[in-house]
Amino acid sequence: MDLKEQARQLTDELLRAQKAYYVDGRSIISDLEYDRLFDELVRIESEHPELKDENSPTSRVGSDLTSDFPEVSHTIPVLSLDKAYSSQEVVAWMEKTARSAGRDLSFVEEEKIDGISIVLYYENGIFVRALTRGNGYVGNDVSSNVKTVKTVPLVLTEPVTIAVRGEIYLAKKDFEALRESSPEVANPRNMAAGTVRRQKSSEAAAVPLTIFVYEGFWADESKRPDNHLAILASLKRLGFRINPHLAVFSSSKEQSEKLLEKAGLEAEPLAFGDLASYLERVTERRASLEYEIDGMVTKVNELDVREALGYTEHHPRWAIAYKFESPQAVTKVKAVTVQVGRTGRITPVAELEPVQLGGSVVRRATLHNQEYIDSLELALGDTVSVVKRGDVIPAVDQVLEKNEEGNTTFVIPRTCPCCSSPLVQKGAHLYCVNRDCPDQVKGMLAFFTARDQMDMESIGPKAIEKLYDMKLVRDIPDLYTCDYDVLKGEKGYGEKMIASFKAAVEESKKRPFSTVLASIGLPDVGAKSAQILIRGGFSDIDRLLKASDENDIAAFTSIPQIGEQTAAGIIAALQDDAMRERIAGLRAAGLQFEQKAQEELPDQIFAGQVWAVTGSFEHFNPRSLALKELEKRGARTVSSITGKTTHLLAGTGGGSKRETAASLGVRIVSEAEFMAMLGQEEHGQEKKDAQQLSFGF
Ligand code: IVH
Repeated sequence: MDLKEQARQLTDELLRAQKAYYVDGRSIISDLEYDRLFDELVRIESEHPELKDENSPTSRVGSDLTSDFPEVSHTIPVLSLDKAYSSQEVVAWMEKTARSAGRDLSFVEEEKIDGISIVLYYENGIFVRALTRGNGYVGNDVSSNVKTVKTVPLVLTEPVTIAVRGEIYLAKKDFEALRESSPEVANPRNMAAGTVRRQKSSEAAAVPLTIFVYEGFWADESKRPDNHLAILASLKRLGFRINPHLAVFSSSKEQSEKLLEKAGLEAEPLAFGDLASYLERVTERRASLEYEIDGMVTKVNELDVREALGYTEHHPRWAIAYKFESPQAVTKVKAVTVQVGRTGRITPVAELEPVQLGGSVVRRATLHNQEYIDSLELALGDTVSVVKRGDVIPAVDQVLEKNEEGNTTFVIPRTCPCCSSPLVQKGAHLYCVNRDCPDQVKGMLAFFTARDQMDMESIGPKAIEKLYDMKLVRDIPDLYTCDYDVLKGEKGYGEKMIASFKAAVEESKKRPFSTVLASIGLPDVGAKSAQILIRGGFSDIDRLLKASDENDIAAFTSIPQIGEQTAAGIIAALQDDAMRERIAGLRAAGLQFEQKAQEELPDQIFAGQVWAVTGSFEHFNPRSLALKELEKRGARTVSSITGKTTHLLAGTGGGSKRETAASLGVRIVSEAEFMAMLGQEEHGQEKKDAQQLSFGF
């Protein structure tokens, strides 16, 4: 057998095995045999690159070449769905649709997968490209990453030319597992979106994304089935992964059964009258699904009716999405501004048309970084949904409607908005590396004086701006040496205010070493890691300085929770002259640079537990205080409840988390119970003292 034939046979066998395993969930060959065939094909392909097919099963592992996702036009309209927020609305829509069609209809009910919309294009049964939705007409070519998704077939079982719409998503359990290394990613959808746009497909291959497909568009219309159920059955036969949670609604259960039988598909046969109870049932099972859904989609089954109904500018008239939650805040992006943080990190911020959300008016929302903007494909003028995650800053969650002005995805300018220095890319973020950048310096000072840090409350961002502008302060030690009396006579700075500044400065000298350490601007050193370092033996600054002078990475990494990257970051920062000067200045000012006995971390009573928090609290306001208490005692905290969550701390109010927790058997803990766990009793001064101690202030 010649090599070419051998490669072809290996390819066939591997493709069959991949399809069986990933799409149908069964093994037809052993893992060992699979690896053997795979390695053999890799060997042939590397020795004879001319034999390597673009869609070889070996392309699943991705590549280290970077990709810039060129824009490509869709050949089908990629629209989104109109929405309903109650089952009554869905029933009314079905009735209206049947009326305008002028005949009896059947409908298919699918889950609305909360993932990334993708269109897969095949020519003569061969994968040619995968495009993101983009603005509906033009999307980004993300083929190299999508090819790493094992459930996306690269070769179909028939040589058809077809466009297929589907949703790429990440299962909840896979998200939780990956989250340990990317804690900033809020939900599985965002992680899937980020992965689909990874520059290196080898990195995308490391994330176990999967797909459900739900629409097919045949180039040769004569091949196209005449109803949606048959389309799904055909897609399945072609090798695609179809969501088995399906229901069919028609005038009677028997009629629905007949439709299913004809299409050769399994689904729940139901009558129109069952719709409300079906949606209720789905809502209940939602928490126990392995993936996230954000609603249900009702679609007209008959394709000729679909065609007759047609489309509005934005939506098909033959389908509607039933969304589970009441609408999130929906608003328009007026502009995107760019901020420089205390570490020089650049954060793009969406300036919004003001909108009410969770009891406050939101005008701005974080966009994190360019990668996040790209994954949303967000442009000026787009209509977006905005959410609040925990108690923190609101974030733009999704683009709901593209702008009509033709604006394309926003790109962060490459120079610092404050000092115009060229920006530098580090990991996912851009940085301004000019240490004298005024916004950076002000940010560093404001961080130092913040309530959660040195708690010099009267010297807030506004006062810092003033002190900076008057050239009184350029680095942290200046806060301890500057002559605040110079402010006398300045508008808004009376004697009382000046006295409060001086008092705050004096008071701050009492803050324990752990707080000082977490406030002076060492990278990755927050309250928790400062405690960890101290517990791990760095009980005074000299020990830290010595270890960094000696480049002694092991002195840090021998502490269990300190990784190599954090260690290297701390060492580099402590070797820096400016940091040395800062530390010397603060020492001279009389700040605490060694640990006193009572600052120890409390017992790790929550070690190994995973806690979510909902509602508001009497003793923990803002709610982040409760998270701190949990984390300090060894708990891992999460923002959404999954099978791994062990406890839900539930205050008053709060949303659906309580039901989700109940349905998953997660232990629900009240505030009173939690207080008892912490061993805290009384209110008043006693409690305040206790908190100050345990918060490390
Ligand atoms: S049908 C022309 N079915 O929801 C109709 N969409 O706002 C195409 N989605 O962009 C959409 N699950 O990304 C359809 N079973 C499903 C879906 C689904 C998730 C997404 C899709 C679409 C968005 C609609």
